[in-house]
Amino acid sequence: MGKHEKKSSNVVWHQSHVTRDMRETQAGHRAGVLWFTGLSGAGKSTLAHAVEQRLHAMGVRTYVIDGDNVRHGLCSDLGFSDADRVENIRRVAEVAGLFVQAGVLTLTAFISPFRGDRAQARELLGNDFIEVYCNTPLEICEGRDVKGLYAKARAGEIPAFTGISSPYEAPEHAEIVVPTGSEPIEASVDRVIAWLETHQWLRGEKK
Ligand code: ADX
Repeated sequence: MGKHEKKSSNVVWHQSHVTRDMRETQAGHRAGVLWFTGLSGAGKSTLAHAVEQRLHAMGVRTYVIDGDNVRHGLCSDLGFSDADRVENIRRVAEVAGLFVQAGVLTLTAFISPFRGDRAQARELLGNDFIEVYCNTPLEICEGRDVKGLYAKARAGEIPAFTGISSPYEAPEHAEIVVPTGSEPIEASVDRVIAWLETHQWLRGEKK
């Protein structure tokens, strides 16, 4: 994918006997990826987990892949330079793709600040990619400053902090735009669930 250099050779794809289609049929819903993007503190993780809770109660197979958690393990070798963020998002898109093959309705919560990276994730995941823009303005994220990181970034203690000293390129054609800075969380959850229902993602429909 993209700038990533493929180093493995002499490897052959092994086809599974249990297919995605069979898994989706068994689960009774479509697999896919709800890709939450937005500034730090925009409410991506909070919304992703709240949507997951609602979907789980509806009998949907779900999993949240969360930026802060992935950076403790799979991506613990990556920092916040542009190149590292690109690689972070590339890995997450690949992992999300595996979850889709496993029949899971996957939710990812990463700043994913670069339009090009999200476009690559969309290219990789095709029709399974649902971009959810958590549109909380910077002033509100900074006002909340839940983790105290904006204050540190303003003080020059964190280099390349998104929104302060590193860009956030807002989506132009997100499937779902959520005013996470101004509406109650339950209304945002309703908005995402309504989109999934309108687009026949739940209740036994398949791709
Ligand atoms: S991304 O840009 O590569 O998509 P990711 O979502 O994984 O970022 O991680 C963002 C989280 O890392 C933020 O919520 C914040 O807690 C923390 N963080 C630490 N340093 C930075 C930084 N320089 N810029 C943005 N977030 C940072």
